[in-house]
Amino acid sequence: MATSNKNHSEKLVDSFNRHINYVRISVTDRCDFRCIYCMSEEMEFVPRAQLLTLEEISTIAHVFTLLGINKIRITGGEPLIRKNVITLFNKLGNLDGLEELTTTTNGSQLMKLAIPLKEAGVNRINISLDSLKPDRFKRITRTGNLDKVLNGIDKALSVGFDKIKINTVILKNRNHDEIIDLVSFAVMKNIDISFIEEMPLGLIDDHDRTEMYYSSDEIKEDIQKKFELISSTESTGGPSKYFQIHGSKTKVGFISPHSHNFCDQCNRIRLTAEGRLLLCLGQENSVDLKKIIRAHPGNNEKLKESIRNSMHIKPKGHDFNTQDKPIIFRHMNVTGG
Ligand code: GTP
Ligand code: 5AD
Ligand code: SF4
Repeated sequence: MATSNKNHSEKLVDSFNRHINYVRISVTDRCDFRCIYCMSEEMEFVPRAQLLTLEEISTIAHVFTLLGINKIRITGGEPLIRKNVITLFNKLGNLDGLEELTTTTNGSQLMKLAIPLKEAGVNRINISLDSLKPDRFKRITRTGNLDKVLNGIDKALSVGFDKIKINTVILKNRNHDEIIDLVSFAVMKNIDISFIEEMPLGLIDDHDRTEMYYSSDEIKEDIQKKFELISSTESTGGPSKYFQIHGSKTKVGFISPHSHNFCDQCNRIRLTAEGRLLLCLGQENSVDLKKIIRAHPGNNEKLKESIRNSMHIKPKGHDFNTQDKPIIFRHMNVTGG
């Protein structure tokens, strides 16, 4: 991956003086899992014809780097089930100005794709894992297979990414009793783990979100019964607040949109698989980049202008609360978080 960004003097700054250098690109809203906090059992997905093509995504990503974006995370749904997605990773890996290429996956395809991802230049990967018990894993993901994901994690470990992080969404009475086991797993594998508070995105049919809420502070207290947590200044520019597990290489992160709002430091925007540039995960402000790229093929200036203008509508922050009713009807699989 090229590192020099010296020719790319333009920068994206929003109306609250936040510098935007990070784009999360969703390449599909489809997924081979149906996690209970993310989706309903029955879901309607975007017809394939409405998705941006991989070539369009790669063009838009190139334009982002011309505007000072130096970090791209590929998300889904499950990004690794999009057909030929490795060709996109290969193109992104060669973008001048990109310092970090990452992806967030459910791990189901890693046995097959960990090597091509590494070869494409992916630096870090985040893998969702909410339980180490096969039955419970199935209950939470509805269709997932724990063994496949654990083998995928081992494959990714053997390939040598700079960093692997586990993402765990904790739900009271579903998996909160596994917090220590999941941290022990991360310590044993020498990888990091983030605990995420459930966010009210989209209507789900499995549970009442308020009843299942388990705060980061409760999780931290549980962990401290067995492990010593040392406050860490490390930041990936993401919303995670990190602690080092004493005597290990593992860091534990807490992503706490409810209990510790981090919007004032937001450095990111999102592109949906349909080509909508979303300015905030918890608001609907957006710009239709698919319309622009299709109306002006080959005209990067038009794309640049729209992206630059979008900075005016990036909101100050999200309005998440723990109430069960979502204020955002878009499910998490539309943005990949
Ligand atoms: P880095 O950004 O590279 O540090 O990774 P990350 O941990 O943010 O990314 P990942 O894709 O693993 O997402 C983990 C969780 O963080 C997901 O549940 C995301 O929805 C959540 N998350 C990421 N960015 C934001 C954000 O801007 N706002 C909120 N509320 N949640 C976010
Ligand atoms: N709240 C919090 N995290 C969620 N994820 C999916 N849906 C939700 C939700 N409603 C997490 C997944 C994955 C990451 C991209 O987002 O577990 O790790
Ligand atoms: Fe798929 Fe991730 Fe949503 Fe689970 S959380 S259904 S793995 S997109």
